[in-house]
Amino acid sequence: MEHHLLCTFSSFLFLFLFSYIPITSQLPYGSSSKQAHNYSNVSCVENERQALLQFKHGLTDESNRLSSWVGESCCSWEGISCHKTSGSVLKLDLRNTLPPYFDDNDYFKNRLGGQLSPSLVNLTNLRYLDLSSNNFSGIQVPAFLGLLKNLRYLNLSSAGFDGEIPHHLGNLSHLRYLDLGDSGFSLRTKDLGWVAGLSSLEGLVLSSVNLTAARDGLQSINMLPSLTTLDLNGCGLFIHPHLSHINFTSLAFLDLGENNFSNYTAPPWLRNLTGLHDLRLGGNDLSDPIHGLFDQMTSLVYLDLSSNRFDASTLKSLCNASSLTYLDMRFNNLQGSIPSEIGQLINLTYLDLSGNNLQGSIPSEIGQLSKLTNLSLSDNELNGTIPINLGQLTKLQAFDVGDNSLTGVLSEDHFAKLRELKSLDLSGNSLALNVSSSWVPPFQLHEIRMGSIIVGARFPAWLRTQKEVWELDMRNASISDAIPSWFRVLCHNITSVDLSSNSLTGNPLEFKQLKHRPSRYRYREIFLSSNKFDGSLKSLPLDISYLDLSHNFLTGHIPQLEVGQTSVVQSLLLNDNRFTGTIPEDLCKSENLSELDLSNNLLSGSVPLCLGNLRDLWLLNLANNSLSGQIPSSLGNLWGLLGLHLNGNKFVGKLPTSMQNLSNLRILDLGDNGLKDIIPAWIGERLSNLKFLRFQSNNFHGAISDTLCQLSHLRVLNLAHNNLSGFIPHCFNNISAMVSGLDDNRNSNFSQESLQDIKGGREVEYSPGSLQFVKSLSLSANNLVGEIPDEIMELVQLQVLNLSQNHLTGTIPDKIGNLKQLETLDLSMNEIFGAIPESLSDLYSLNSLNLSHNKLSGPIPSGNQLQTLTDPSIYEGNSGLCGKPLPNNCWEHKLPAKNGPIDDDEGHSESDWSWFYAGIGPGFAAGLSGVLGILLFKKSWRYAYFKFIESACDKIWVKTTRPRRNFR
Ligand SMILES: *[C@@H]1O[C@H](CO)[C@@H](O)[C@H](O)[C@H]1NC(C)=O
Ligand SMILES: *[C@@H]1O[C@H](CO)[C@@H](O)[C@H](O)[C@H]1NC(C)=O
Ligand SMILES: *[C@@H]1O[C@H](CO)[C@@H](O)[C@H](O)[C@H]1NC(C)=O
Ligand SMILES: *[C@@H]1O[C@H](CO)[C@@H](O)[C@H](O)[C@H]1NC(C)=O
Repeated sequence: MEHHLLCTFSSFLFLFLFSYIPITSQLPYGSSSKQAHNYSNVSCVENERQALLQFKHGLTDESNRLSSWVGESCCSWEGISCHKTSGSVLKLDLRNTLPPYFDDNDYFKNRLGGQLSPSLVNLTNLRYLDLSSNNFSGIQVPAFLGLLKNLRYLNLSSAGFDGEIPHHLGNLSHLRYLDLGDSGFSLRTKDLGWVAGLSSLEGLVLSSVNLTAARDGLQSINMLPSLTTLDLNGCGLFIHPHLSHINFTSLAFLDLGENNFSNYTAPPWLRNLTGLHDLRLGGNDLSDPIHGLFDQMTSLVYLDLSSNRFDASTLKSLCNASSLTYLDMRFNNLQGSIPSEIGQLINLTYLDLSGNNLQGSIPSEIGQLSKLTNLSLSDNELNGTIPINLGQLTKLQAFDVGDNSLTGVLSEDHFAKLRELKSLDLSGNSLALNVSSSWVPPFQLHEIRMGSIIVGARFPAWLRTQKEVWELDMRNASISDAIPSWFRVLCHNITSVDLSSNSLTGNPLEFKQLKHRPSRYRYREIFLSSNKFDGSLKSLPLDISYLDLSHNFLTGHIPQLEVGQTSVVQSLLLNDNRFTGTIPEDLCKSENLSELDLSNNLLSGSVPLCLGNLRDLWLLNLANNSLSGQIPSSLGNLWGLLGLHLNGNKFVGKLPTSMQNLSNLRILDLGDNGLKDIIPAWIGERLSNLKFLRFQSNNFHGAISDTLCQLSHLRVLNLAHNNLSGFIPHCFNNISAMVSGLDDNRNSNFSQESLQDIKGGREVEYSPGSLQFVKSLSLSANNLVGEIPDEIMELVQLQVLNLSQNHLTGTIPDKIGNLKQLETLDLSMNEIFGAIPESLSDLYSLNSLNLSHNKLSGPIPSGNQLQTLTDPSIYEGNSGLCGKPLPNNCWEHKLPAKNGPIDDDEGHSESDWSWFYAGIGPGFAAGLSGVLGILLFKKSWRYAYFKFIESACDKIWVKTTRPRRNFR
């Protein structure tokens, strides 16, 4: 999206440059169309008038732009200019001039569409044709345009044309400017040979035309000696390293961004283009070019080298190019410090070195670049303080040093002369802001990004002077204060406010809905999570698309909506507060709601049936409340749901069969309820995208259905603490995510620190960051019988295997040593007999083991990781076992017959667990992770959550806009 906007922006700039192309000076009516209308009283040529009417007839014109196209004097019609004496039509300009703001319907309505009538060829004197920014969706560029022999200017950009570009356009030998750009890769040409016919061409724009199949590369374009402008951005063109002789040496503008350069090297012939003013090579992964590539380009003013792999030597060599006003080298391979020679680029207005690996301090020479308007050094490893003389850059509008390791205290002096500043990004540094409470900054900022620096303790009073803010990020900024009442007013005009992870107190903002909100507020976002807000909410601000009040101390009921209020809320996160009462049915009126998190509150009552009307919902998290009743069958209407968390409530009864419609579900957590059902076959058969399935601590009974084995993406299966009976299925080796791990996004170890021990070691929360990598199977505390199936030993990705507290018999399979990733193995409290296989010592990652209270016998294997597991309780209650860490030595122990059951004199009672929880010692938390793992959320985890359900992410990104820092 960002990229798309950038493209659009650059093409705008470009059109702007070209709207003054000297073509019009060739026309008899001078350069402005206003003058042209002076001749509108000439009578137009009847044949041409008919041709125009016929042309209009083919068009669709939703906004009725062509309403003036009636009557006799066609020269006065909208978009038409005629020759002053002959009355012949010279110019047809039907460009849609409205700006394409993406939530602005007017732009779309104003687009012409339909068919292009061949009657146009009767406008034999036509010199200028502009049909750009319209919507001729899917039709081809008509070949008859090649018959308009007098055309000087042809612009078909952003007009929705599709398919192969007709070679007939190559007949337009007088054409000076041709723009077929921004078709979104739907226009294509297999062969650029036709271009060579455009012998008068000065400007050629083919940006985002699909040229991947154009094998002749730039050869045909090289036939155009008058070319001054060439835009091939995003064409996928193969750029040859060699061109025998360079014809287009008059080029002033060249955009070769996002193409395919041979060997990722800038070709040597670029060096000959000594007249270039504007060179754009972004997004090509180019490595450092042959030495001195830019040395001869002494006229270079604008240089975009972003998203390549140029290193610091290129930057240094550019420091001689003192004509440069614009230098973009973000996302390259710049290392080391910023050369102090950068101070020689005295004409720079725009400098972007963000997203590199620059170290050292910011050279004070940058403070000499007195014309700078935009300075971005973000996302590097810069340290030291911000030079105070940057405060002398009086023209600076955007200053971005976010995400570095800068230190020091910023005072009012740093900003004293930055009168023009609109965008300030200091976030993610060890900076502190120290300004007086009466400070009146010289600027009026639009964007304030001060996340994770020290802004507080007091709420920044200077914000009150900032009347034009539309984005404010002061998350984690060490503010411990109440939100002042004046901020509540200011806040109404801000599109995105992030004050999360501070210690803000009091009642959060009183949200009032504005009557006439400009459309830019449609995506308004407010993040206030992880503060100390308390009290109750009077109203819900449903004119906000993303509202996060999670992790506060809010009490009272979730407020009702005001009558007649229309809701645009898409994400409503009220989790981890102290809300009481029921879930209001009113919420169901928020028909755009896509993310609803009410977990970890004190809500009671039943789930409103009407939640099933929220068809856009992809996350519904009601976990850990006191909700009761049955799971409403209407939830089965939420077919877009990716995550459903109903765990930790008091739900009873059966699973509604309508839930089998939730085929997009990735995460289903129904644990810790009173559900009483069999495990329905449709879970395995219909919910085929499930990655996480947790039914722990309910009353599920019956056998474990073989159909669960069809869930090939499953990473976590937790059926512990139910009444399941029968055998463990032999088909678990069909769950390929546990077998191959091919489902993984990254190959990383399940990191121990990402598990957090909460509630006295009994429950363990998975951060979704670790969830991506967790593979866990837990069937403990059921009534399962039979042997441990050998097939389980094929689940080589498993990190957690817990089969404890069942009635399993037989021996531990020898192949247990295959489960190399295993960190937790719990087989305790079964009736497993025989010797412990030696291969257990192959489990190098094992850090939690429990084999207690079985009928195991013989010597305990030693060596490797097993040697570190020295707690004797791991093995206790197996009277036949001997050797370390048990006190009895094997030589004094009667060796049991191999595989023979040994009586366990101690026995154990199923209901007395106190010893179990008490005696197991360290590693217990991890040991239970597969059993009790539940998903709890922190804001910072949301990104990981998205990743876990990755395949559906595209959809989510479209729906939720987030400030960029939040996902870093
Ligand atoms: C052009 O005009 C002639 C008559 O002047 C007419 O016969 C012909 O159909 C027109 N061509 C088109 C394509 O409309
Ligand atoms: C680009 O065009 C070629 C044929 O010219 C076609 O094979 C290819 O699929 C196109 N690429 C895209 C992304 O449309
Ligand atoms: C340069 O342009 C001329 C005239 O268009 C053409 O004849 C010649 O072949 C071109 N040279 C190359 C190397 O393409
Ligand atoms: C590509 O670059 C590598 C390393 O710079 C070089 O060795 C190789 O010859 C180049 N290949 C071509 C086809 O130019």
